[in-house]
Amino acid sequence: MSADDQKRIAGEAAAQLVEAGMVVGLGTGSTAAWFVKALAARKLDIRGVPTSEATANLARELGIPLAALDDVKSIDLTVDGADEVGPGLDLIKGGGAALLREKLVWEASKRCVVIADAAKKVDALGRFPLPIEVVRFGHVHTGHRLADIAAEFDLLPPRLRMADRGIVITDGGNVIYDLPSSVIAEPAALAAALKAVTGVVDHGLFLDLADEALLGTDQGVVKLVP
Ligand code: 5RP
Repeated sequence: MSADDQKRIAGEAAAQLVEAGMVVGLGTGSTAAWFVKALAARKLDIRGVPTSEATANLARELGIPLAALDDVKSIDLTVDGADEVGPGLDLIKGGGAALLREKLVWEASKRCVVIADAAKKVDALGRFPLPIEVVRFGHVHTGHRLADIAAEFDLLPPRLRMADRGIVITDGGNVIYDLPSSVIAEPAALAAALKAVTGVVDHGLFLDLADEALLGTDQGVVKLVP
């Protein structure tokens, strides 16, 4: 089965968790897009809270009614993809540059389900470069401070994320620095150190946030719990 098929079956399985009347957090990325499509096909009376402009556009096209995060008291269920699923369902997210809105939506959710293809499961976080969202003002200086932190954790200095058209700008108007791939031995300590830097808005370490994972594998969808 291709990775895309694994993403699709995980997304379709997650769509079955949604019940009428729910407020549902809609993740970002190719796996989350499969979930959004499968959810739209169920035609349930729900409201979706999108985690990016891309997901909002997809949901609108498919006819899913949307609400802004501040228009709902809480979110019943959020379903989102991940770049890595590590031990205890700790995650790296933000490959799609949506980590800030994703984390805000996850933290407002009663239940968070991560969906992914089998290759995303790792024994230790760090194979995927760790995204860090940084405010644009003075971001080069913030990048130097991030390099100091990286050195403290035996990691390589971060790189400003670029795309064909120049610097990647997030939906929130910020830039992304990625810490190159290397095993993250102390995710919680690294998360705290990154958050303490002025200019860092957030990072892609999602620790203790996922309630379950649905992994698409060649044998079908496998459910994992922390
Ligand atoms: C976006 C994310 C995505 O969930 C992550 O990048 C996984 O993407 P995909 O499902 O396309 O592999 O965190 O910020």
